[in-house]
Amino acid sequence: MKLKILVVAGDGIGPEVTNEAVAILKEVAAIGGHEFTFSERRIGGVAIVKDGTPLPKETIEAALASDAVLLGAVGGNEFNSLPPDKRPEAGLLGIRTVLGGFANLRPSFAFKELTVNSPLRPEVIDGTDILFVRELLGGLYFGKPREWNREAGEAWNTMRYTKGEVVRVARIAFELARKRRKKVTSVDKANVLEVSQLWRATVTEVAKDFPDVELEHQYVDAMSMHLMFRPRTFDVVVTENLFGDILSDEGGVITGSLGMLPSATIGGKVNLFEPVHGSAPDIAGKGLANPLGAILSAALILRHSAGLEAEAAAVEKAVRKVLEQGFRTPDLARDNPQGFPVLSTTEMGAKVREMVKTLLVTA
Ligand code: NAD
Ligand code: IPM
Ligand code: MN
Repeated sequence: MKLKILVVAGDGIGPEVTNEAVAILKEVAAIGGHEFTFSERRIGGVAIVKDGTPLPKETIEAALASDAVLLGAVGGNEFNSLPPDKRPEAGLLGIRTVLGGFANLRPSFAFKELTVNSPLRPEVIDGTDILFVRELLGGLYFGKPREWNREAGEAWNTMRYTKGEVVRVARIAFELARKRRKKVTSVDKANVLEVSQLWRATVTEVAKDFPDVELEHQYVDAMSMHLMFRPRTFDVVVTENLFGDILSDEGGVITGSLGMLPSATIGGKVNLFEPVHGSAPDIAGKGLANPLGAILSAALILRHSAGLEAEAAAVEKAVRKVLEQGFRTPDLARDNPQGFPVLSTTEMGAKVREMVKTLLVTA
């Protein structure tokens, strides 16, 4: 099969982790005789410095001409004083808008081997398998009016959703739940916000088309607690943009590190794949970054954009096996009583590649 992949590595640890994700995809292509082609463009802070904008036109054009976009991360402390529309993050929000994907799938899972790395007790997280479906193109991130009126000492943003925006993301959540454990938890703040009341009423209406799927509603404050107390009881969790941003990072606690979490954004012109984590300026350039979130995002490219399910599953299995063998990156070895081997970013990437080769060649 043929696939044109645009890599926008971005800032901080973005290039370090995407290198490993690309290397895995090249390995899978070589083994299976697939024709994956890769091109690179700038986004975020690197683009501000070189092109004067966080999302250059060439990046937009190349993204729209590709079959899948793999993004590393954007952001850096040197840009912190810029207004939102000039910051590296505006590049990310811009490319999401251009590509049009509104359903951001963020799995959160407990790997048995990593339970020691989570502050939660193994018996609480064991077997957890959650799929967050985060609405990605609406809510506070994009709602107008928005402004910081410095003279008045006042600032405002707008959380706005149309019914149609809620319907389309809710349908995706129910369809995905149908292929999983048939439960959807919808998260909102309907006890306070009109926009959440629209959200809840709309999700409830959509649920009527999916009588085989159980629907539960939770307020976001309670949900952030339930997620820690009883993560295993959740299957698909659908929520608006900002709540999904926050809850999916909380999912990193279940998995044992934010660096493990991948994401896929579907429903638009071109699918977008990115790890959940950011540019991690505190560890950038040191070979300390965990590439597994990016590598698992590469697996999602194989699944959602290439239709190569067996290969996607092989990459996921390879990650699990390498962890089973005891290999760790520093973020996974905070508590390392067994003295597991701690690898650099590139070493971890190479281990997973080796394992993918073993799995796919002997399969
Ligand atoms: P962050 O996700 O970059 O880092 C949070 C913590 O997790 C840090 O301690 C970091 O070292 C650690 N971490 C993150 N990814 C890791 C990995 N792969 N391996 C090991 N440790 C990892 O969040 P932040 O520090 O709040 O934000 C830093 C910058 O990243 C900001 O500019 C923010 O806007 C941006 N950001 C970008 C994205 C994105 O591009 N998708 C996502 C989140 C944050
Ligand atoms: C994420 C990030 C982004 C978001 C930022 C960097 C714009 O936190 O992908 O989770 O809030 O969506
Ligand atoms: Mn986030």
